[in-house]
Amino acid sequence: MALENIVVSREDSVGLIQLNRPKVLNALNGALMEELAAAVDEFDHDSAIHCIIIHGTDRAFSAGADIEQMSAATPAMMLENSWINRNFERLRRASKPIIAAVSGYCLGGGCELAMTCDMVIASETAQFGQPEINLGVIPGAGGTARLARAIGKSRAMELILSGGRMSAKEAEMRGLVSRVVPGELYLEEAKKLAREIAGKPPIAVRFAKESINKVYELPLSEGLDYESRLFYTLFSTEDQKEGMSAFLAKRKPHWKGK
Ligand code: HXC
Repeated sequence: MALENIVVSREDSVGLIQLNRPKVLNALNGALMEELAAAVDEFDHDSAIHCIIIHGTDRAFSAGADIEQMSAATPAMMLENSWINRNFERLRRASKPIIAAVSGYCLGGGCELAMTCDMVIASETAQFGQPEINLGVIPGAGGTARLARAIGKSRAMELILSGGRMSAKEAEMRGLVSRVVPGELYLEEAKKLAREIAGKPPIAVRFAKESINKVYELPLSEGLDYESRLFYTLFSTEDQKEGMSAFLAKRKPHWKGK
């Protein structure tokens, strides 16, 4: 597929995807979302890639769904061609970790995209918000569901009903982002984290991601059962034998991803 709305690159075992509609602050239209989901799918099935980063520009991660594309839509059109929800679902199903490296505006569908990723590293310039109320709609791709879980019901309610914004510092304090770093470093810090994760045993990374995401949605007792089953399963991998033997022999482990 010829890419017109994203830029895809790789640095060793890290796959990078840059949203590339800077003139409209990386507004998410159908073409961009198809390209983004396809790029994530491709990295997810590429055995040489172990971690994925999605980022925008310094000015905007993304200002949300493309308002021009949505403005004349009917419910049937939104349902039939739910370009955001359908493709977010493809991202959510990726088995490899995805880091959102966020700078500048991270609004509406952009904030929902960041929350669909597994971790968020934010520049101190980042601003998060769900301003859909100002357009006569509500967040429709995880905003009400994920934001309330991430930062608590009361603050999520305030942000979504007022259409206001939250600073990077507040987002960090409330747990929406894992770390805020100086503006010029956000992408470098995301790459550093991605390289660190890419150097870990891949099946254990995959299971850890799966367990955290799954258990987040389950009652505690079911979550604990789910986690322990994945934990026991890892004792069938060569990497578990290697990791523990290497520790005991005081040497570095060599992961095989088996
Ligand atoms: C289409 C957009 C856009 C968007 C910005 N632009 N956001 N186009 N869709 N979401 C365009 C502007 O029209 C403008 O185009 C150019 O990008 C630069 O934006 P400015 O407004 O001139 O920049 P600035 O003054 O810095 O203001 C930035 C901003 C503002 C605060 C981010 O652009 C803004 O409020 N954007 C809309 C944010 C929003 O409401 N997002 C939620 C969308 S709904 P021109 O041609 O004039 O240069 C949504 C629903 C998700 O996300 C649910 C899906 C299922």
